[in-house]
Amino acid sequence: MTGGARSRRVLLLLLLVGVAARAASGGGIDGLLPNGNFEQGPDKSQMNGTRVMSPNSIPNWVISGFVEYIGSGQKQNDMILPVPEGPYAVRLGNDATIRQQLSVTRKAYYSITFCAARTCARAERINVSVGPESGVLPVQTVYTSSGWDSYSFAFKARHTTVWLAIHNPGLEDDPACGPLIDSVAIKTLDPPRREKGNMLRNGDFEEGPFIFPDTAWGVLVPPMDEDDVSPLPGWMVMSGTKSVKYVDAAHHAVPRGARAVELVAGREAALVQEVPTTPGRWYALSFSVGDAGNGCAASEAMMTVEAYAGREAARVPYASRGSGGRTRGGLEFAAVANVTRVVFQSYNHHMKRDGTLCGPVVDDVSLVAVRKRAGRRLLL
Ligand SMILES: *[C@@H]1O[C@H](CO)[C@@H](O)[C@H](O)[C@H]1NC(C)=O
Ligand SMILES: *[C@@H]1O[C@H](CO)[C@@H](O)[C@H](O)[C@H]1NC(C)=O
Ligand SMILES: *[C@@H]1O[C@H](CO)[C@@H](O)[C@H](O)[C@H]1NC(C)=O
Repeated sequence: MTGGARSRRVLLLLLLVGVAARAASGGGIDGLLPNGNFEQGPDKSQMNGTRVMSPNSIPNWVISGFVEYIGSGQKQNDMILPVPEGPYAVRLGNDATIRQQLSVTRKAYYSITFCAARTCARAERINVSVGPESGVLPVQTVYTSSGWDSYSFAFKARHTTVWLAIHNPGLEDDPACGPLIDSVAIKTLDPPRREKGNMLRNGDFEEGPFIFPDTAWGVLVPPMDEDDVSPLPGWMVMSGTKSVKYVDAAHHAVPRGARAVELVAGREAALVQEVPTTPGRWYALSFSVGDAGNGCAASEAMMTVEAYAGREAARVPYASRGSGGRTRGGLEFAAVANVTRVVFQSYNHHMKRDGTLCGPVVDDVSLVAVRKRAGRRLLL
């Protein structure tokens, strides 16, 4: 990196930190946590090689287990460990944890976003917890060519101070084996609301986890259990180990507003919302399908979103050139239960030229009740 680029980057970082600090004083707390990018590190006297030896030696964090403090460009065996943001990151070895105490508003909802990269183990996992809530995020599939992905997790604050813990539950032969972590941020989530004219909550995906303004790879929303707090209010991601990607208009083509969801895992991950319905009544689901303008399916290909609701299914194809654009599709269904699951999946797997996974974008989803009579429908 040239000196000019570096100083611009430092300046950008200072600006971002400034924004975060101002946001913190104004009630909401959107932005990097204090020393969330680990730029302040331990003294040499508190380290043995790269290993951090004392629990309080990284400012604002408490560590336990095999934690390493990694400088950009540092080598491990023959592999260079790059760092996405600024010159430093940490690595969580076997059973290692980093913790930070957060000041929050009781009963409010928050999302945590952080960058992580898998290193040597194939099925690395990260256990994120706040108070009694925890989620084990799979760091198995890598969705960027740099190896760094942003991950999100959400929680409801039970107290005004809570401990955020990021833990590697791994037990590899090499105790230093484990994911790299950098840039930990927090964002207050507005509780999901239903807007007029739409039975779905957050149908436009405008509310969601923090996206780092200087990262171009969006944020993964990992699979979750039904009673978990979702970083994407109103929506659940159901999958074994695969995620969906939350993307921003600053770095992607987004059908409407500033945010959308890229379905990057084919049929291996479903984006789901449950909505109260009246059995026997008819409903119309409509949504936009497009591509994120990120070179996905660059050689003209159909990107298809599958939607399910009630007993109906629809496939909505979009002829993608990988350069953005969208189409509108939908389906009508009669509810068969009090609660209907609206489900979206990508019909296929797609890949960019660099071999990373990508897929169609879904956005601007709406659900309305309709009156169905002799094949004609009227909006209620
Ligand atoms: C530093 O680490 C090396 C290699 O693991 C070990 O042999 C040595 O005893 C450690 N030194 C201290 C002061 O803990
Ligand atoms: C994740 O961390 C939480 C809190 O420390 C713990 O209760 C839970 O058992 C952990 N899960 C795994 C799979 O390690
Ligand atoms: C709908 O909810 C009512 C009351 O909660 C319950 O009695 C009924 O069995 C439910 N019906 C269906 C189809 O799930």
